[in-house]
Amino acid sequence: MDLLSDLEQTRTAALVAFAAAPDAKALESERVKYLGLKGRLKDLLGQVGKAPPEIKPQAGKRANQIKVELEEAFARALAEKGRPAGAGPAFDITEPLPPETQQVLGKRHPLTRTVDQLLEIFHSLGFEAVEGPEIEDQRHNFDDLNVPPDHPARDSIDTFFIAGNLAPLLRSQTSTVQVRIMESRTPPLRIVAPGRVYRPDNIDATHHSTFHQIEGLYVDRNVTMADLKGTLQLFCAGLFGHETKVRFRPSFFPFTEPSAEFDATCPACDGKGCAVCKQTGWVEIGGCGMVDPNVFEAINRARGDRAYDPAVWSGFAFGPGIERLCMRRHAIPDIRCFLENDLRFLKQI
Ligand code: DAH
Repeated sequence: MDLLSDLEQTRTAALVAFAAAPDAKALESERVKYLGLKGRLKDLLGQVGKAPPEIKPQAGKRANQIKVELEEAFARALAEKGRPAGAGPAFDITEPLPPETQQVLGKRHPLTRTVDQLLEIFHSLGFEAVEGPEIEDQRHNFDDLNVPPDHPARDSIDTFFIAGNLAPLLRSQTSTVQVRIMESRTPPLRIVAPGRVYRPDNIDATHHSTFHQIEGLYVDRNVTMADLKGTLQLFCAGLFGHETKVRFRPSFFPFTEPSAEFDATCPACDGKGCAVCKQTGWVEIGGCGMVDPNVFEAINRARGDRAYDPAVWSGFAFGPGIERLCMRRHAIPDIRCFLENDLRFLKQI
């Protein structure tokens, strides 16, 4: 019999034997017989090596095709017969995937999640979320916020100007949105404006040139500093936990009078004193105060009416940094983490 028909016969015999093997053990002995090291196919491949040149290429090609086909047929037969009769599917659907094939699903950035959480808290207090532009002019960033012409914040070492020392600029605070909202709406108002701000700061663990603030503004009749403190108390309790307390320290901002810095009891130690709060039990959260009547008057001038008459309306404002809130909440030691896109950080938080 010639080599080619030998090959075809072996192929057919192996396919029949694999299909007919009653169980995994029988199948294995058929595999050894046909595909094993001393098996039938190996023998035939050896013969191909010695075959006459006129049939050698054809026989070699066919032998390899048959080898592949029989290996596949064997694998299929094993998948069927390798299990006891009546067993379920040939795979275990509860088996975890090997790590290299696991799909890594992305998740939202820690800052995005903090903003969502803040908006949820303020929404529950009746505040509406609004936005303003990041490229601003001097009037919205400074003038109408009662920042005097010679104030150091207007210096190019404190603000990114786009064209020389005049407008436009990259806003250095979200307080700009207070001005924009009051220009376009009449009181009463209750808004929060989260957004990105820019400052030419030296970058270190607690300072960055690009960060976020959430501005709050409440304008109504008879608004007092007690309303401000109550609101900040609810906001900090919502973010850090119910037991959180808030305190004011006197401060100064051109657009509020009086002004304060507000602190919360340290979320890392619940106010007992630890390394995070330098044993004081308190951590700084941000600036706040009662809207300065000069701001209302600047808005009235811009609007050309008296919609914000300081004799009728009063208000409070606040503007904490969002990175700092997120850092306090998750004990993140370095503000640079937020912009570096290091997956080890992003996965951990
Ligand atoms: N805009 C201030 C800053 O960037 C923070 C601030 C302080 C905002 C007091 C306010 C406020 O609305 O009332 O440092």
